[in-house]
Amino acid sequence: MTERVLLVGGGGREHAIADALASDCTLYACASNRNPGIDRLADDFRALDPTDTGAVVEYAENVGATLAVVGPEGPLAAGLVDELEKAGVYAFGPKQAEARIETDKTFQRTFMADHGIPGQADFETFANTDAAADYVESVDGDVAVKPAGLTGGKGVRVTGDQVTKLEAADYVRSAGHDEWVIEERLVGEEVTVQAFVANGDVRVTPAAHDHGRAFEGDEGPNTGGMGSYSVPDRTLPFMTDADYEACVETLEAIVDALPDYRGVLYGQFMLTADGPKVVEFNARFGDPEAMNTLPAMETPLLDVLVAARDGDPLPDLEFADVATVCKYAVPEGYPTDPEGGTRVRVDGDSVGDADLFYASVDARNDGLYTTTSRSFAVVGTGETLADAQTQAGAALDDVGEGLRVRHDVGTDALLQRRIEHVRSLRDE
Ligand code: AMP
Ligand code: GLY
Repeated sequence: MTERVLLVGGGGREHAIADALASDCTLYACASNRNPGIDRLADDFRALDPTDTGAVVEYAENVGATLAVVGPEGPLAAGLVDELEKAGVYAFGPKQAEARIETDKTFQRTFMADHGIPGQADFETFANTDAAADYVESVDGDVAVKPAGLTGGKGVRVTGDQVTKLEAADYVRSAGHDEWVIEERLVGEEVTVQAFVANGDVRVTPAAHDHGRAFEGDEGPNTGGMGSYSVPDRTLPFMTDADYEACVETLEAIVDALPDYRGVLYGQFMLTADGPKVVEFNARFGDPEAMNTLPAMETPLLDVLVAARDGDPLPDLEFADVATVCKYAVPEGYPTDPEGGTRVRVDGDSVGDADLFYASVDARNDGLYTTTSRSFAVVGTGETLADAQTQAGAALDDVGEGLRVRHDVGTDALLQRRIEHVRSLRDE
């Protein structure tokens, strides 16, 4: 039987999911933006709000979906997986209750504490803005200040790094959120480890490294992610095998404590002097990290989804021995004052030798235009990180006016800095 798979979401991550699935199934897709890459790969594409669970369920029923896969967190938070299941469609993604591991940071840290999950950071939770702000002003040491709910990766402020404590307290008072989590500031280098999870099985994927800050040299505000890389090994050059194993243990401990969890479980970790500490969990693939993981995965993604649905053991995963470098082109001013509306020159499914994944672009009669979110990504692949970086870099050398790129993602200079940083922390 040919599976009829409904893909929910229209970003670069979902384009990579579509690319991994399209040749093995009949693909349907829905998202609020008509992603031209997904549109080309899918048999049908419906523009709708993916957090409107009723609209997605109706579309799934209309196309006779035998499976669904949910990319972004918004629909997970809205309970889309629960509603699809009630309509008889198995969706690969956590139900609303399990998705709280991402969607509610108060739950995330409290759950870790209640279940003794390794990699915990010191934290306090607040249901009141003034109490949270007063705490930030008076606490010893630097902290990370986080609204408890979803903020698209842009809600966190770290003292001693981006802001002073007074600025962080002012931010808490003025940001318009009631619930806050205030954590110790973790010092080190960040890594992502993602796993496919279903029926208690956990299948981990190679580590990737995202660049959350807007500007080169890790400066500027946090973004949804400017680019990421992976190497032909499950670790990264500044990550030991023991670090990787510790990250996997943390993900497995979460699944032991949340046995109904299904979908992708994403762990972001800080490699500190004392080993990996949890920065956050996501209930889905990372964006951009999905664009490192899926193109290198040799096991068909469809096999994982079908095994999850049918209650079979998840397949062991095979990955090509390649390095990947993903770089996003974003509108000028992103993320604080993005200026959309410029014409995008890329077309088709590659730029030079790099693969092209579309994110938020607006298709008009005369071509594609930027919106106020990330526009498109290129992924270079090679035997070494240098090869992959050269390929991705060349694709974006002349990205055009109105767009910005972090050219330093995947470069040797930045990598050496991270290696030195972790070494210096651990030699002390
Ligand atoms: P999050 O939305 O929780 O991933 O946070 C966004 C970014 O803020 C992370 O990628 C880190 O760079 C930073 N961050 C979050 N929590 C901490 C922490 N406890 N210590 C240091 N940096 C953090
Ligand atoms: N790369 C960060 C995220 O997907 O949230």
